[in-house]
Amino acid sequence: MEKFVIKGNRPLIGEIDISGAKNAAVAILPATLLAKDVFLIENVPDIRDINSMLQILESMGAQISYANRSTVKIDTRHVQPGTVDYELTKNLRASYYLLGAMLGMYNSAKVAMPGGCNFGGVRPIDLHLKGFSALGAMISTDGGMIVAKANKLLGASIYFDKVSVGATINVMLAAVKARGITIIENAAREPHIVDLANFLNLMGARIKGAGTEVIKIEGVGELHGCNYSIIPDQIEAGTYMVAAAATCGDLLIKNVIPKHLDPISAKLRECGATVEEFDDSIRVSAGGRLHGCNIKTMPHPGFPTDMQPQFTVLLSLCEGISIVTDSVWDNRFRYVDQLTRMGAQIQIEGKAAIVQGSAALKGAPVKADDLRAGAAMIIAGLCAKGTTEIEDIIHIDRGYEDVVKKLTAVGATIARVNFPDPQNVVAKRA
Ligand code: EPZ
Repeated sequence: MEKFVIKGNRPLIGEIDISGAKNAAVAILPATLLAKDVFLIENVPDIRDINSMLQILESMGAQISYANRSTVKIDTRHVQPGTVDYELTKNLRASYYLLGAMLGMYNSAKVAMPGGCNFGGVRPIDLHLKGFSALGAMISTDGGMIVAKANKLLGASIYFDKVSVGATINVMLAAVKARGITIIENAAREPHIVDLANFLNLMGARIKGAGTEVIKIEGVGELHGCNYSIIPDQIEAGTYMVAAAATCGDLLIKNVIPKHLDPISAKLRECGATVEEFDDSIRVSAGGRLHGCNIKTMPHPGFPTDMQPQFTVLLSLCEGISIVTDSVWDNRFRYVDQLTRMGAQIQIEGKAAIVQGSAALKGAPVKADDLRAGAAMIIAGLCAKGTTEIEDIIHIDRGYEDVVKKLTAVGATIARVNFPDPQNVVAKRA
């Protein structure tokens, strides 16, 4: 077992490079299954979720090799239709994209019900399945697996009554080779939707409107391999932006698309931080204690829910009362229990957290409840007086490449430390 040990209360100063976007990569990698060809994908982050996805593709017959740490060659020429291994997919939320990709390629897919971040509530996939059905697929379940089958996929008009990143992506994957035209209305507009559309179009797909509420897909018969570079990770960048402001530091965050960071920059400025944008970098600094503001998470271009826990840590240190509302997920405040152990004053009222800013946090033993909750604990530890120990960091490794190295290079004192699994110790003694 591993944990992070952080000695906090010092500013982050220097430069940080951002890796490729996890949530774009988890869609683009399965999209390679839509052609039997060779792909060279750059800016692939070296994180657990992506390595799990590559392992799944390999188990399906794809040949994976690396030109360097972030450039992956994927040869899908020997992939065969069939069941995707249950053990490999059950813990990866984004494994549901294998459903869309396999259905799009072979008219048939069998994949485990998705795992991934558990915020304490339900994470349904009814909209994905509704989209597949509209394209002509029959859906059933079999021993924890979802089975989707079609004689022929036919383009259709699909209206999502809720904006869903996953459902938008899954229908795009399934529809690129369907006969006729598919129209997705009330589509998600996140940067990774646009990135996937750009990738699919480079493969020969005909997708228009990605990044708007209406996406039009004209089905094509064949797709082919391509070379592609994944966009930088909006949420990794946002996490370090907030860390800079919360520690009263000064960070130049490189390899970003500043436009993707607009909702985060706007809120940091509202709190009193300085945010300067350059072509492909962004600088965030704060000279002293900031003031609170209200946050409401919304689908893109609103404030991202995946930045909500990290921003709440900042607000817990700001002057005044802030109200944080998560309108995307029903129950994404589980981490608040951990934060209150460090002295944060936060009350949960339904879908909102009422944050009473205080001048300081105190180091404590805490855990990462999920990926972004873990990132929030790191920021809290960096700001807190004393030592913070974060357990369950396996969640953080799912989405942040080289987090210890990147933070150490800008002045943080953070280490990854091995410790015995308490359950094993008890078992040995018994
Ligand atoms: C993606 O999850 C991201 N994951 C999440 O990031 C992110 O929090 C979320 O989008 C929202 O931005 C990946 O890209 C792998 P949704 P996804 O479908 O696609 C409801 C992270 O930290 N809904 O947009 O699963 C759902 O309950 C992760 O990197 C349905 O009702 O999210 C939620 O309230 C965590 N039915 C809302 O829509 C469905 O069929 C948005 O979910 C699907 C979703």
